[in-house]
Amino acid sequence: MSASDLAPNHSSGPENSADPENSTDTDTRLTGEHRKERFTISAKTYWRIVLVALILLCVIVLTGAAVRLTGSGLGCSDWPNCETGKLISVSDGHQAVEQLNRLFTGAVSAGVIAAVLGAFRRRPYDRGLVYLSLGLVAGVLAQAVLGGISVLTELNPIAVGGHFGLSMVLVCAATVLLWRSGDHGPRGSESNAHGAIWLSWVTMAVGTIVLGITGPMLTGTGPHAGDLDAKRIQMAIPDAARIHSLSAWLFLGLLVALVFSLWQRGAHRILMRAYPLLVAVLIQGGIGYAQYNLGIPAWLVILHIAGATAITIAATWFHTGLLHDAATVPIRDTATGSPSQRGTPAGESPAGIGSPSE
Ligand code: HEM
Repeated sequence: MSASDLAPNHSSGPENSADPENSTDTDTRLTGEHRKERFTISAKTYWRIVLVALILLCVIVLTGAAVRLTGSGLGCSDWPNCETGKLISVSDGHQAVEQLNRLFTGAVSAGVIAAVLGAFRRRPYDRGLVYLSLGLVAGVLAQAVLGGISVLTELNPIAVGGHFGLSMVLVCAATVLLWRSGDHGPRGSESNAHGAIWLSWVTMAVGTIVLGITGPMLTGTGPHAGDLDAKRIQMAIPDAARIHSLSAWLFLGLLVALVFSLWQRGAHRILMRAYPLLVAVLIQGGIGYAQYNLGIPAWLVILHIAGATAITIAATWFHTGLLHDAATVPIRDTATGSPSQRGTPAGESPAGIGSPSE
């Protein structure tokens, strides 16, 4: 539906009434409606807005990591003020790094708010995009609070790990939003892969454990706490590293089994999205072993965090695409006798949610 489809119709109905009293009221209403519909955006413009929001969410993961890796986690001892009674203070480098990260939160907030406003003005309108983008705003607000809790608990590793985990949830949600705001053709185009959906869910669950539990747990025992006096998890680093690497191996094994299963089923479209994920996991494993054997240098840790972010995006894109493409084949609509798409919400085109064409 385009803006012109929604534009008021001047050719029929009471709008064309000869009654001058009525026509003034109607004209005002029409001008209002017309103005409202003038501020609409195309699916493609909305897609770009979401892409920018996703990039901003990824960048703040890295600036947040830089805070921890430069030991600036308690550069500001208070929150939201940097020092008691002082919103901004740059008396040393640690404070500057910590505050740059806090300021960048403003850019991320603007990005996700733009995604909400855009979802309201996007044509065709899709309520699902509004809810998802509102979820991003709620997540960024929760992140600001969790960041504050991390500072006020003097970088408790559970709070810091939770802060990282929530960033991954936000990156995942923004990736789903990006997928949903694009056009990916009809659902079920590779329904021969339907049987692989359960394996993909299991693989994603194990990936979530690696990214959200065993990784941050290892970080909580490791040397980069964000401040020399920060609390650490009482576990030997080699033990935590063993748990983390074993869970990563399990994730890799499941992913290889999934790729094999998709290849056997001839699901080539879905496989094309699995390969980047597989490559990212292999590189991430290599970086992981390198950083462990080199004594966990900060420059490799930041690469490992960038890798975790890339894996989150690639895994979400792959799995969301699999659910779309491997949905069951079109079923016959008993009411009309014509084929319809299972899982396509009422009122939406079976070709997917909107189209990013201008
Ligand atoms: C699928 C592969 C892997 C993924 C997705 C992954 C992900 C992660 C994540 C999310 C963190 C926590 C980052 C943070 O809290 O800031 C982490 C930390 C870590 N990972 Fe991995 N990892 C993988 C494989 C490995 C492997 C095979 C090793 C080898 C032992 C390894 C070694 C480490 C180390 C040493 C840390 C702690 C870094 C620090 O102290 O800051 N990783 N990993």
